Amino acid sequence: MIDLDAFITGLPKAELHLHIEGSLEPELMFALARRNGVAIPYADVEAVRAAYAFGNLQDFLDIYYAGADVLRTRQDFHDLAAAYFDRAAADGVVHAEIMFDPQTHTARGIPFAEVIEGLLSARAEAEARHGMTSLLILSFLRHLSEEDAVATLAEAEPWLDRIAAVGLDSSEMGHPPEKFARVFATAREKGLRLVAHAGEEGPPAYVMQALDLLKVDRIDHGNRALEDAALVERLARDGMTLTVCPLSNLKLCVIDAIEDHPIDRMLTLGLKATINSDDPAYFGGYVADNYRAVAGARGLDRGQLATLARNSFTGSFLPAEAVAAHLARLDDYLAEQA
Ligand code: ADE
Ligand code: ZN
Repeated sequence: MIDLDAFITGLPKAELHLHIEGSLEPELMFALARRNGVAIPYADVEAVRAAYAFGNLQDFLDIYYAGADVLRTRQDFHDLAAAYFDRAAADGVVHAEIMFDPQTHTARGIPFAEVIEGLLSARAEAEARHGMTSLLILSFLRHLSEEDAVATLAEAEPWLDRIAAVGLDSSEMGHPPEKFARVFATAREKGLRLVAHAGEEGPPAYVMQALDLLKVDRIDHGNRALEDAALVERLARDGMTLTVCPLSNLKLCVIDAIEDHPIDRMLTLGLKATINSDDPAYFGGYVADNYRAVAGARGLDRGQLATLARNSFTGSFLPAEAVAAHLARLDDYLAEQA
């Protein structure tokens, strides 16, 4: 029988919570800074990595938005996404649903078209090269106004047939889901699926708002839902997918130690949890590293790991036939490994 590391790498899986700007590795940051003549406040890649010590979400976001400044052209966005797809394919990812933050770029004068066309060309290349499918999630920055989000959705109009969903990210505290109820309603009317970060730092009430006011199809993170037994029961009953990000939780001090991660408690409570990397270049690992981290720290067995992978397909926005095909492939893998 292959060892657990190899079992995890080979496990066919989908990644459902990944910020493409968060996959910008320091090496590529330096290469793009050089290519675009952009000054960055670090001497070398070691200095960049040394700066990645965060006390909370905002500490991280400040560095993450500054890092994104090196992204200027369609080619930059292509190269960024191509690097992620190559890395994810090596981790057994067969389908990825990728968030991008257009406002981080349009606010700096980068046209929306440059961002999305670069991502779309990388996506086509990944499908040809790795057989990996992907979907795009346009994520609104919640520290900005709802009007800004409305304008961003209008800007995206020519590409809406190539955008699967809208999301909500950035600074959670003080920016509750209710602030974005109207733009989410508009997105829903346009046929888009809906996700929102909720319960990463924010209270269970924010998770409830995401469900009741935004009517989301998935909750990104959701950790703090565990503080409310009635909410947990509701999430479990409704089969609501949670896109959990263990190494992110550790680096952003949502948990004190990886040994404290509640992933197995979530499964025991009947929650449809999945494992994801969030911002792998900043948090020290891609998706398989996240599976390995909780498998080691929480003693997850192969059955639990397979459940997490299964949830990643049933929680995806793929059509039913594609989900069924992925589940069959997963079952074949598990039968081979038995
Ligand atoms: N943007 C990128 N990563 C994020 C996270 N973990 N929470 C909120 N916004 C984000
Ligand atoms: Zn996130």
